[in-house]
Amino acid sequence: MFFRSSSKLVAPVLRRTYSTSRWSKVVKGPEDPILGVSVAFNKDTSPSKINLGVGAYRDDNGKPYVLECVKKADKKIYEAGVDHEYAPIVGVSSFNNAAVQLALGEDCKALKEKRVVTVQAISGTGALRVAAAFIARFLPGVTAYVPNPTWGNHNVIFADCGVPVKSYTYYNPQNCGLNFDGMFKDIQSAPNGSVILLHACAHNPTGVDPSMEQWKKISQLCKEKNHFVLFDFAYQGFASGSPEQDAEPVRYFVNEGHEIALCQSFAKNFGLYGERIGAFSLIGSTPDEAINIESQLKILIRPMYSNPPVYGARLVSTILSNKDLTAEWRSEVKLMADRIINMREQLVKYLKQHGSTRDWSHITNQIGMFCYTGLTGEQVDRLASEFHIYLTRNGRISIAGITPRNVEYLAKAMHKVTSESK
Ligand SMILES: Cc1ncc(COP(=O)(O)O)c(C=O)c1O
Repeated sequence: MFFRSSSKLVAPVLRRTYSTSRWSKVVKGPEDPILGVSVAFNKDTSPSKINLGVGAYRDDNGKPYVLECVKKADKKIYEAGVDHEYAPIVGVSSFNNAAVQLALGEDCKALKEKRVVTVQAISGTGALRVAAAFIARFLPGVTAYVPNPTWGNHNVIFADCGVPVKSYTYYNPQNCGLNFDGMFKDIQSAPNGSVILLHACAHNPTGVDPSMEQWKKISQLCKEKNHFVLFDFAYQGFASGSPEQDAEPVRYFVNEGHEIALCQSFAKNFGLYGERIGAFSLIGSTPDEAINIESQLKILIRPMYSNPPVYGARLVSTILSNKDLTAEWRSEVKLMADRIINMREQLVKYLKQHGSTRDWSHITNQIGMFCYTGLTGEQVDRLASEFHIYLTRNGRISIAGITPRNVEYLAKAMHKVTSESK
């Protein structure tokens, strides 16, 4: 309603009490620890500064890398003159088929039997969010177990969806490796039918993965306990350089009859971070069950984000439906994985060359983008204040931030702070 004041129309002054604001009880939340590292890095003006916090691949010059196969797919999509219509609720079907086939393999029995439902997701995070919402709705009260430590978002996603979340032992700080006995015992002690989240490969943040023998034992245990296994597969191809090798644990579980949930991300292996492209799959026991599951996933997704963005899906499906582009993608994902493996080796070489007598073998034993160095919070603080090297206080470094130009400087700094610590 408007009032006439002299010759102008003016809106009435809203009646409100200014003494108490509606949002006065909203307190400032803490910074995300990883983003906090970038903030500190950006503020630093030193030319030798290094950012080892960000979980995004960088090339030898420390620059973001756009895959050649992505550039070619981009061109193809542009030339095809596509429209910008909505995708269905479940996303782009050619992408969904290609995504799940990449993870489970062409010969997967469950796929052939049409028992697998796949929906496009808003990258790995979105896939996990849909997974958690589905679990909350259809397995109410069931606790999800995540490794300790795990990617920081796991706990929050489950908690935000109302899924009780606990952790199982994972890391052994004594040897910077896997505490397999602890992991086994904790999964064994979890109530039958619990949700067990497993990182399929390149565990974040530790870089520590079970061996195939250990995976087999976990599979058997989860079967005995009737646990529901959820694989978070954010790094297919990025760990070993071979998408097949990285998929081995997932494929093993599926072949063993586990009706798993699978969350895929195409952020790292296709370098499509900002395109937010991922997939969520669930395996049912019959094709009818799969149809029912899909209908419920649609009901869940519709009020969440209605339907997913199409561009990333078009890129990935264009690549995976074309033999030459797929071959090029395979060589590029290997190139990224090999650069990471090489930087691990270089770092250890320079640590030794500069006189470090510590055992740094975990740096090369661990796999994927991240390395749990074993550096203490105090040592991390010194790296930042004296050497302009930024990482999270848990000692995790993103190997992607290491380049041939900064690796020796980093090794010297790491040696200095570790040799001068008590
Ligand atoms: C273990 C793990 N899961 C899932 C994700 C999800 O990433 P995004 O949402 O960017 O695909 C990440 C990203 O760092 C991750 O490390």
